[in-house]
Amino acid sequence: MGDIHDDVSRIEALFRSVLSTADSVEALQGVRVRFLGKKGEVTSLLKQLGSLPDDERPEAGRVLNELRDSMERSLAEKTRQYAGAQVTAREREEWIDVTLPGRGRPWGAFHPVAQVTQEAIDIFVSMGFSVAYGPEVEDDFHNFEGLNIPPHHPARDMQDTFYLENGLLLRTHTSPVEVRSMRKWGAPLRIIVPGKVFRRDSDQTHTPMFHQLEGLLVDENISLAHLKGCLEAFVNRIFGRPLKARYRGSYFPFTEPSIEMDVECVACSGRDPGCRICKGTGWLEISGLGMTHPNVIRAGGIDPVRYNGFAWGMGLDRIAMLKYGLNDLRVFFEGDLAFLNSKGERR
Ligand code: DAH
Repeated sequence: MGDIHDDVSRIEALFRSVLSTADSVEALQGVRVRFLGKKGEVTSLLKQLGSLPDDERPEAGRVLNELRDSMERSLAEKTRQYAGAQVTAREREEWIDVTLPGRGRPWGAFHPVAQVTQEAIDIFVSMGFSVAYGPEVEDDFHNFEGLNIPPHHPARDMQDTFYLENGLLLRTHTSPVEVRSMRKWGAPLRIIVPGKVFRRDSDQTHTPMFHQLEGLLVDENISLAHLKGCLEAFVNRIFGRPLKARYRGSYFPFTEPSIEMDVECVACSGRDPGCRICKGTGWLEISGLGMTHPNVIRAGGIDPVRYNGFAWGMGLDRIAMLKYGLNDLRVFFEGDLAFLNSKGERR
């Protein structure tokens, strides 16, 4: 061992320069190992103390211990700085404000036609009707023939039908479910049939697919008064206030007599000659209806002498349009989310 003071100043200078370039907690740990570790520069000098002459040993020991302590202090000091800085940087990066409300997800909403359908179901169910469904792909018998519409009956032209290649068709109304239900459950019977129907028709107020709600009641001694009571109660509830109703004679092959029901205009109550909803007539067509034709009761497998009944069919999209004050039916089926969110009720 040469002059201990030379070694100490050399090691100390080296330590200071290495220390000054160490810029992380990990680098500082490396410096520590290099100088103070088991095989470190200072450690190996300390190990050589034993071989010094007795009179030099205490002084050399003191100097080396001092060096080691000062290195420890410098390292500890700088490590504290870097550890603090690293924690601060990480905290800044990972900081979250736990008091902020969550991001949330947009709520879905029911389509206006779905809402009106559900409301209509609720109203008629409260009067004791059950909900029946039938196939959208129908056969000629249920869609036409069983409803007293024979093959060459002009009423078939009223409905522009989508025929399928296999002789089946897309139902043009919900009325086929009348015959299906009578055959299934017999009399007495009280059903409503909400569902999709299809016609080759497309303009501002017609879409190739739309929604109807059919009703059928079969029992003994049924009269038109029963039907008027049901429909007027329905109209008042779905539009939320009592509305004047009127009835006009009409023609449907499956009812006799056949009638159409109008209600006072929900927008102007007949007071605005320029009203775009009722076109100034003051009245809105709401439903076709009538006393079920005995041939239809018979096609349903029920005795038309003992039983009679009434039926009606109304457009659910049309009721939704009136309820929401729209004059273009097509918006219902374009899937425009801005429109749907503005009309969609969240439940
Ligand atoms: N099925 C008719 C249509 O789609 C609507 C209808 C009218 C149904 C009178 C009925 C009814 O049950 O009695 O135009």
